[in-house]
Amino acid sequence: MGINVNKIRKDFPILSKTIDGKPIVYFDNACQTLRPVQVLNKINEYYNEYPACVGRSNHKLSEKATKEVFEARKKVSKFFNAKENEIIFTRNTTEGINLISHAFKLNEGESVLISDKEHNSNLIPWLMLRKKRINVRFFKFGDIEDFESKMDSTVKLVSTAHVSNMDGTSQPIEKMVKIAHDNKAFILIDAAQSAPHRQIDVRKIGADAISCSGHKMLGPSGTGMLYLSEKSTQNMDLFMTGGETVINSTYDDVVFEKMPNRYEAGLQNYAGIIGLGEAVEYLKKVGMNNIEEHEKMLNTIMTEGLKDLIGDNIQLLGNPEPKLRSGIFSFNLKGMKYHEVSLILDKTRNIMIRSGQHCVHSWFNANRIDGSARASLYLYNTEEEAKSFVEAVRKLSSFSR
Ligand code: ALA
Repeated sequence: MGINVNKIRKDFPILSKTIDGKPIVYFDNACQTLRPVQVLNKINEYYNEYPACVGRSNHKLSEKATKEVFEARKKVSKFFNAKENEIIFTRNTTEGINLISHAFKLNEGESVLISDKEHNSNLIPWLMLRKKRINVRFFKFGDIEDFESKMDSTVKLVSTAHVSNMDGTSQPIEKMVKIAHDNKAFILIDAAQSAPHRQIDVRKIGADAISCSGHKMLGPSGTGMLYLSEKSTQNMDLFMTGGETVINSTYDDVVFEKMPNRYEAGLQNYAGIIGLGEAVEYLKKVGMNNIEEHEKMLNTIMTEGLKDLIGDNIQLLGNPEPKLRSGIFSFNLKGMKYHEVSLILDKTRNIMIRSGQHCVHSWFNANRIDGSARASLYLYNTEEEAKSFVEAVRKLSSFSR
């Protein structure tokens, strides 16, 4: 069916604004996306109409806020084909991963298996476990044989990215889930860069846990979701504790809540959660398959438009085939520092990208690459914007020779 980009763009107030007389070309979506008016209105609705506590008081404002958060959980769980009690609201993907790294019970000498191309969010929490004499082992990202060869009886937990935030390449996670489960290991998927861009059906994937962020999928800043399968909680302790996590307490004892409340400690970001519910509704209406195809089409325009320079003046990171790089175009120009590339694109054409190590320092260090300039696409980006990027990079490339 395809998507109507012009209609979609009208929903994003910032896209009708100009900076220095020029429109904004927002290509930093892997970091954080823009928000449609539907999400902005929903956030305001909370503050204007029912800015109260959820699940605690029985007055009218609190009842309304409680109902809205309940509805948001319903929308999010439906979006991922999860049960409502399997969705834990977090601040971001990182918090979801930290929850698992703290709550999953591991013993000295046991191992965690991760890939060699993880975001710091899915590396550091595991490295911290080395203090408890838990091993952290690595497999080559995307290499299923290497993954399988690294699975042994000490591996009790696997945590890996579905799609790399650095170059957009993905892993066959359904196969990986099967291998992990055949080896009786728990598997957590970092879906920060896949959930916003393709259909995620938690039942089909079959992982024990999946973490992603709301702000990378049109939702409010500092919102996230952790799917935790109902069946996978046996070996799980608690994470943060406090208000909302308990049914009862005495000076000596506590009765903890069931899922998901036992993992949602303290007063939550209710406006954010409600806004997030609206964001997934918006994505659902546009259609995740349509979004995926649209991004691939734009990435193809960018890759084809620069094809003659790739391998020569342009170093492209990730798979050369654009359809295998989701909506990410990560590159270096010969003779020009990546920060310089992003600053010039911003200054001359309002093309906003990210440059640096993209929180994947470990991979850049291991591969002796300094960093990269990264354009990342979303549903509101247009063919004209992709062509303007090509034109701008070609021009820069002619200077950098
Ligand atoms: N993970 C985000 C990015 O890649 C911050 O930009």
